[in-house]
Amino acid sequence: MLEFDGLHKSYGDNRVLQGVAFTVAPGSMFGFCGANGAGKTTTMRIAMGLALADAGEVRWYGRPLDTAVRRRIGYMPEERGLYPKMRVAEQVTYFARLHGLDAPAASRAAAEWTERLGLAERRGDRVEKLSLGNQQRVQLATALAGRPAVLILDEPFSGLDPVGVDSLAEALLEQCRQGVPVVFSSHQLDLVERLCDSVGILARGRIVASGPVPELRRREAGRVLRVVVPDAPHGWAAGLPGVRVVSEQAGDTLLALDPGTDDQAVLAAALRTGRVTHFGWREPTLVELFRDAVAAPAEVAA
Ligand SMILES: Nc1ncnc2c1ncn2[C@@H]1O[C@H](COP(=O)(O)OP(=O)(O)O)[C@@H](O)[C@H]1O
Ligand SMILES: [Mg+2]
Repeated sequence: MLEFDGLHKSYGDNRVLQGVAFTVAPGSMFGFCGANGAGKTTTMRIAMGLALADAGEVRWYGRPLDTAVRRRIGYMPEERGLYPKMRVAEQVTYFARLHGLDAPAASRAAAEWTERLGLAERRGDRVEKLSLGNQQRVQLATALAGRPAVLILDEPFSGLDPVGVDSLAEALLEQCRQGVPVVFSSHQLDLVERLCDSVGILARGRIVASGPVPELRRREAGRVLRVVVPDAPHGWAAGLPGVRVVSEQAGDTLLALDPGTDDQAVLAAALRTGRVTHFGWREPTLVELFRDAVAAPAEVAA
């Protein structure tokens, strides 16, 4: 278990983290989401000992992370950290050795990961001569080649083309299957939804929603009704008590119901317009969940 427990961190008056807590089980992939500036990078830097928490700690199997454990973490920092003059294969080998592999194992790992991340042709090139996308792949290879026990990756997919996205996704899923917990931050919610067992949405210094995506979607599902009434006049649902029309197009209507509103009264109103070809709760997408979670209730009221 990788546990982030009660992390607090302020920079001056800026209270960035105010009790961030989540757990990542072995073999699971955790998508760490949040708006720009929410504190994702800060959280990951605290795990790696690059920023000091004001309170709280990060534990691995119950033990606070120390240098020995951190050596077994494959970490991809937001501010990428490669040696521009080093050649690709050397670089990956070097990092694998820092993570404790002996020389032959490190060069084998470098060969394997440069191949798998599409860098085979670039092994002898200096890092500074690569495109940004390829530098990103080298950075990923350095995180993966040390046979990490844990992966913490800050925006690993940003800047990759679709082929790069696929090979990274496959590599991460494979690490998970081998029991490695993976935490990555991303704005690409479609990817997060596709890859992650679990997501956490960071907002206002806390994890405001977390859990498996289908569960989060179900939890919020009892609020939005989709009703299809092909013969109804436009605006048929406006004025129903406790009902807000989210969208309406040729009878295909999305309705948000206030808590306690009787859905059967909505059905009766729909039937009065003629045929009802669809009537059911609609689960919000992860994007809608994200928007909801990030919009602070206090800010909405203000
Ligand atoms: N070293 C620092 N000094 C001062 N403020 C910082 C520092 N690092 C991060 N911050 C502030 O902390 C907040 C969270 O930043 P960050 O963790 O980078 O967010 P995210 O990765 O979610 O975009 C931002 O307001 C940022 O300006
Ligand atoms: Mg960041």
